[in-house]
Amino acid sequence: MTLPAATREKAESLRNQIRHHNYRYHALDNPEIPDVEYDRLMRELQQLEAEHPELVSVDSPTQRVGDAPISAFGTVQHELPMLSLGNAFSAEELQEFHRRVLDRLALDEQAELIYAAEPKLDGAAVSLLYVGGVLVQGATRGDGTTGEDITHNVRTIEAIPLRLLGSGYPDRLEVRGEIFMPKAGFDAYNDKARAAGEKTFVNPRNAAAGSLRQLDPKLTAERPLDMYAYSVGIADEGSLPPRHSQIVDQLQEWGIKVCPERRVVSGVQGCLKYYEKIGERRDQLSYEIDGVVFKVDSLEMQEELGFVSRAPRWAIAHKYPAQEELTTVEDVEFQVGRTGAITPVARLTPVFVGGVTVSNATLHNIDELHRKDVRVGDTVIVRRAGDVIPEVAGVILERRPRQTRQVQLPSICPVCGSHVAREEGETVARCTGGLYCSAQRAEALKHFVSRRALDIEGLGAKLIEQLVGMDRLKTPADIFRLSKGELSELERMGEKSADKLIRSIDASKTTTLARFLFALGIREVGEATAASVAAHYGRLANVLAATEVDLQSVADVGPIVAARLRAFLDEEHNLDVIRRLQDYGVEWPETDPVPVAENAPLSGKKFVITGTLPSLTRDDAKDMIQSAGGKVTGSVSSKTDYLVAGEKAGSKLNKAEKLNISILDEAALRYLLSE
Ligand code: IVH
Repeated sequence: MTLPAATREKAESLRNQIRHHNYRYHALDNPEIPDVEYDRLMRELQQLEAEHPELVSVDSPTQRVGDAPISAFGTVQHELPMLSLGNAFSAEELQEFHRRVLDRLALDEQAELIYAAEPKLDGAAVSLLYVGGVLVQGATRGDGTTGEDITHNVRTIEAIPLRLLGSGYPDRLEVRGEIFMPKAGFDAYNDKARAAGEKTFVNPRNAAAGSLRQLDPKLTAERPLDMYAYSVGIADEGSLPPRHSQIVDQLQEWGIKVCPERRVVSGVQGCLKYYEKIGERRDQLSYEIDGVVFKVDSLEMQEELGFVSRAPRWAIAHKYPAQEELTTVEDVEFQVGRTGAITPVARLTPVFVGGVTVSNATLHNIDELHRKDVRVGDTVIVRRAGDVIPEVAGVILERRPRQTRQVQLPSICPVCGSHVAREEGETVARCTGGLYCSAQRAEALKHFVSRRALDIEGLGAKLIEQLVGMDRLKTPADIFRLSKGELSELERMGEKSADKLIRSIDASKTTTLARFLFALGIREVGEATAASVAAHYGRLANVLAATEVDLQSVADVGPIVAARLRAFLDEEHNLDVIRRLQDYGVEWPETDPVPVAENAPLSGKKFVITGTLPSLTRDDAKDMIQSAGGKVTGSVSSKTDYLVAGEKAGSKLNKAEKLNISILDEAALRYLLSE
């Protein structure tokens, strides 16, 4: 039976529509239609192809994950070698590079040389061969001459088109670029692996490379991979524009994804400015970079400059400070947090990484420590990316000395000697000492005075630790018994600062019930929950009298939170602290209970705020959302309803986009609130 022409045309039309929307979404980052509509087109095509299997073609957008696992990787000879780049580690080295280029081109110092400037992506290099516009081969760089055939895996990456768009592309076109795992995807992957007791990736680069080295493309398809193209290898039969920057623009028009941060700059000054600008934004970029790349933009000049060994003379990588370094573990200690959580921390031989000297790094939890098999004496990779806490990312086993010491979870708290316990199914072990434990006490006090709690300025971590150490502070109530006289006798504390501190302690006494409840540091009771409880009950007496069941009628309070709250309020010593705080004059306006109405405009909606908003502080925005019944959380997940994003929104924005979460700017938030 021959296929009606109309069916064939319908399938082709659907494919073209899907390719067009892929292009809008990936290459232009500017979708025209919502995801549901895209899914509808995709389903329609799938159905049509299922009914008429003879319609299926390799470049159909439905055929991404179709391949069966391979048994071994084939090899690919690169017709044109895949080169590496020389490095500049300082402005001077970049200037030397520039001077060499000018010399070779016989240009004088004044000449305005144009460079294409691009971030140096930290992933895995890839070569993609398109023949007649259809993707026929994907290969790793390998040693530059011979790579591995990863066609089955690159086909699963949605950012890589299976067929080029438009026209005019060379019949054989080799696109080169970097496959990488965006930071948000990397963090989410590692968080999940850690929770499941599985191996984590050391960094996004290893994550990308490891994901491409899967025999089963279904595994690669599950990894959040992305790609930006940065050059062309083979280009047979067909012409390309005469400048590198134009070629990259042209690739984008053919549907290939390219880096949005690419620019064209002039002279070494332009390069240095670009380096600085991207450096400032490094932490906010959604992908990891280790430098920027400058390429002489004119292909004619590139040809004239040629190559030395395996690197072009017309390009250079200007590197940023490394975010990973090697150092040795001198000891592993266990830190006790506010809720008693015991975290192994590696004491390291100090090392300069990510722009600061690091001498401590977290090992997250005891299971992870064992999984990574970190021992005292080991050489380890320390990683400090952005402003996150430095972590031990892995061990260099080849450098393990003969004598090492393995680390076990202590059975008693290193600070107070109470038992260490681990609840079923939890990865976290905790000290059971509660407020008997001076570490938990100090952490509880730091929380109590923090900005979003009682907000006592001038009572910093060091001072709290000192006062706890002297046994002068046992509970938050003791803060209000501190006298100016005793404070001014402390080391590094003059009469003036003692006076100032006493005044800010006094000022903190007038607060709100929400802040007060939050300040108590009850497990599972974060700021938003404290605010809901306060709004629901209006008065402290009502909260104290509420049963576990009643507490669950508060918006966002479930059985776990209700149980934690009740358990806290049933402890006589906690009630005693509360009473004493009130005796010392801590007070707040009490209101009539105003249960958050079911029909509060944003009731039950979950928000995340990121970046800098034009006129609201994040705290203002949070207050506004909460008073409309919404909940504000710290991280984007599939449960998030809205992301409020301002300037310099980074990985959260990316993640929200991936998850198709509604994104609001300040104006849209205000509109939503006014509705
Ligand atoms: S151009 C002839 N551009 O860096 C120049 N490379 O050391 C070849 N890389 O293996 C590369 N971002 O994987 C170029 N914007 C960029 C890049 C980039 C990352 C990687 C690439 C290559 C390595 C070169």
